[in-house]
Amino acid sequence: MAKWDEKYAGAPDGLFGSEPNMYLCEVAGRPDFNPKTGLCIADGDGRNSRFLANRGLAMTAVDLSAVACENGRRFDADAGVSVERIAGDVTQWRPEAGRFWEAVFLFYLQAPTAERMAALALADAAVASGGWIVIEGFGKHGGGDQLGPGQEDLLYSLDEIHAALPDIDVVESLSGLVRLDEGGRHQGLGGVVRFAGRKR
Ligand SMILES: C[S@@+](CC[C@H](N)C(=O)[O-])C[C@H]1O[C@@H](n2cnc3c(N)ncnc32)[C@H](O)[C@@H]1O
Repeated sequence: MAKWDEKYAGAPDGLFGSEPNMYLCEVAGRPDFNPKTGLCIADGDGRNSRFLANRGLAMTAVDLSAVACENGRRFDADAGVSVERIAGDVTQWRPEAGRFWEAVFLFYLQAPTAERMAALALADAAVASGGWIVIEGFGKHGGGDQLGPGQEDLLYSLDEIHAALPDIDVVESLSGLVRLDEGGRHQGLGGVVRFAGRKR
């Protein structure tokens, strides 16, 4: 079984808990944030897309792990929401021509640079004009990072996000230490980047 499938197979109650990411909640609460459709990239078993579906967005989610998608569908049914869940690799999956979303989300894809850049390119290609891109992940900056992968190649920097999204107007672009409380795996201080922007 592939690495991520194995992790999700061992987490029948959710690998990162059932609550949405805290930064996502913050952005979703903004008075100027009112998309009707959303795409979550590398969404895992779906805590974030489910939260957004519950708020009335028509949601699509893509993740490498078929097991994560299957678990996500079960959690969706329990929560009484519907999310279009697609098992796909960000380096290969692309939506059908002419399909765009009013918001695209990328949370904690800690993968080698080529994969993270492919995910940013996908986000940029999939977001509608005026739409939002919202990102959180472990960052390259040091300083007490107890959480997240140790390898530099798997970590984000704001510079690389800005360079990969030149046609996105920055709304927020932050890096620093945050105390995370997300399921069993994200517990404690983590050095993170947070980005929110809108397509011109
Ligand atoms: C740390 S988990 C985060 C899951 C979810 N975003 C969340 O915050 O709960 C990283 C996710 O990235 C997915 N992933 C890793 N490489 C991927 C790729 N190349 N394409 C799509 N998803 C990928 C994994 O299957 C896993 O679900």
